[in-house]
Amino acid sequence: MIEKLENTYILSTNQNSYVFRITKHGDAESVYYGKKITSIDAHTLIKKQNTLFVNTLYMENDETYGIDGMRFEYSFANRGDSRSVSCILKVGEECMTDFVVKKITENTEYKNSDMPVPRGYDNSLTVKLEDALHPGLIIELWYFIYENTDVLARAVRIQNDSGKQVTIQKLMSAQYDLECAQKELVCFHGAWGRERIRHNVPLCCGKFSGGSHSGMSSAECNPFFIVKEKNTDENVGEAYGFHLVYSASHELAAETDCYRGLRISHGIQSEGFCYALPVNEKFDSPISISTFSACGLNGISYQFSRFINANILPKKQVPIMLNSWEAFYFDINEKKLYALADEAERLGFEGIVIDDGWFLGRNDDTGSLGDWQEDKRKFPLGIAAYAKYLSDKKMQLGIWIEPEMVSEKSNLFLQHPEWVLKTEGARSIVGREQRILDLTNSEVCAFIEASLDRLVEEYGAKYIKWDFNRRFSDIFGSEGSAYFYRYIKQLYLILKRFTFRHENVVIENCASGGGRFDLGMLSYCHVGWVSDNTDSLSRAEIQQGTSYGYPIRTMLNHISASPNQQSKRCSSLKTRSDTAMIGMLGAQLDITALKGEEKEELKRVIEQYKKYRTMLLGASLFRISSDNNFYVWEILSDKGENAIIYLMMDRFLSVSSIPNIKLINLDEDAKYEIRFEGMHFTASGKTLMNGGLVFPQIYQGVRIDNGTLNMTDRSTLLIYLIKKEDR
Ligand code: GLA
Repeated sequence: MIEKLENTYILSTNQNSYVFRITKHGDAESVYYGKKITSIDAHTLIKKQNTLFVNTLYMENDETYGIDGMRFEYSFANRGDSRSVSCILKVGEECMTDFVVKKITENTEYKNSDMPVPRGYDNSLTVKLEDALHPGLIIELWYFIYENTDVLARAVRIQNDSGKQVTIQKLMSAQYDLECAQKELVCFHGAWGRERIRHNVPLCCGKFSGGSHSGMSSAECNPFFIVKEKNTDENVGEAYGFHLVYSASHELAAETDCYRGLRISHGIQSEGFCYALPVNEKFDSPISISTFSACGLNGISYQFSRFINANILPKKQVPIMLNSWEAFYFDINEKKLYALADEAERLGFEGIVIDDGWFLGRNDDTGSLGDWQEDKRKFPLGIAAYAKYLSDKKMQLGIWIEPEMVSEKSNLFLQHPEWVLKTEGARSIVGREQRILDLTNSEVCAFIEASLDRLVEEYGAKYIKWDFNRRFSDIFGSEGSAYFYRYIKQLYLILKRFTFRHENVVIENCASGGGRFDLGMLSYCHVGWVSDNTDSLSRAEIQQGTSYGYPIRTMLNHISASPNQQSKRCSSLKTRSDTAMIGMLGAQLDITALKGEEKEELKRVIEQYKKYRTMLLGASLFRISSDNNFYVWEILSDKGENAIIYLMMDRFLSVSSIPNIKLINLDEDAKYEIRFEGMHFTASGKTLMNGGLVFPQIYQGVRIDNGTLNMTDRSTLLIYLIKKEDR
């Protein structure tokens, strides 16, 4: 809902309000972002500036208009703001601009964006600013309200009707000037195999700056972050969550000032950015997403989970696929895959993904990327025949592809060396012996689209695993890192067109694991490969980190072999499957080589998963452990009628026990039926939330009685709760 009181705008969702106003000098000033307020007295929140300090800048003839202390909705270079600004432009050869608010429009449709826009906003508001120095140069600040999920989205669009060429040097998607009382940034940094690990950064002075420079959103720094009060914990206290709907190099900054202000900004990475915007053309920033919660970090996760499920992810259930990668790596062939399909059908899998190694001459990772035709030596009967074999079993075929890449040892490279990002004369930098195709070349895009279509139309794929296994080094053109923006814009277009042509095909988003796990890719892909690291203990940490910003529906988890092939750590099939079930389940191991009882166990896991899958699709995950030795997650169905509690004990400690677990967000007055490990009892929501779930003794080296829990290092429990009809 949007309300207007004189020059103050109140943008409200179900629980939150976002307030800004247009000042008498034509700036947009931030007033408030937090829990819902009464719009009628929103003006009482406007900060008054009466006292000037000696060195403050102010608007001529108006000493009460101090620039330093002002909270701006968006701020521009060279206009006296001593903090980092959000927009730096050059118009022709000049670097001075002076943008003044001209017009505010409500509920206009945001059309023809080059960036993905979350669907289904309830209201929009556009603040149009024009450069007083270059009439016709317009900046639009867009606001989108998603009432039910308590999300506010923002974007910036530049329209250049100034008659002069404009160079964009920095353009953040949004700036949030907040009050800074001892705040902390929570960001999700990592690396390959340990993506999205939670880090807390105190914000006491200066500027924290994060992001990526590699051309991708990256495993090193996810474009999701939280700003919270120092004492905010999982369930109590205020916090703001931010996402950028973008998959290329990004930037986030949190800067404190000496006026108790905190400026948060995020958007395209500005280092080396130099985008040439010709006359009569527009530029769209990626979308900035934010939410506020007074119910701690779980509140942020809950709101983003619901928003991403409802407004970002394409709607299609992801089948339970068995992937060939860790089963056979490059050593795949038809014979092995037919045997795999027979066993997979028996165990309840819904499809097979033929991972890397299926195309012309691909026997290791040194060549062949780009030659996307089946290797007849490995598939004498052909992949289409295999798809038919699977479909007769009511199973689906999935195929791995890395469509943006090429190996120098390939026919494609021989035919089109000019399609490849490579700099003649420079020392050559490769990653996994491969190079990136230049997506700003329309012939390249046409080739990629045709290659993807062939997987569906000729081979019968119903599932694509879309990989991206190296970072950028070389780029084309004179616009510096703006190349990545042009690249990703084309990638989104390819994805958009592909999903339009093949709406029944599921896409798994992968980039060496979770290197491009972001809302840009998830706007087109149904699920994301969380990490190449499938070791359960590592996974518990990675899935937990991911859960702060993403719903479990986005997380593809595989049961893999033990010892784990990344960590060499051993874990039971129960631990591996319990952990993989908290998300979208799949597997990657040679199931034909499993022992009989392991096969039966896997079959039971899949059966059980199918019973809960619909619930998991809409569920939210709440982190509820207060003890570092345990990961405990409450996965609550959308309507709260059932829940699964996941518990992992990291290390066995002598004479120890499992702490009581106080559940959250249950219905106080309802009774819940609880089942796990042969135990079965009923308890009320009130008792479970206040007293908690109380566990039996764990085995301590004496004997296992009826009811003793046999837990050791990295043991897991899945506890099932069903709300009963009678109260
Ligand atoms: C990447 C992916 C893996 C697998 C290999 C194949 O590393 O993350 O899952 O598909 O590529 O080469």
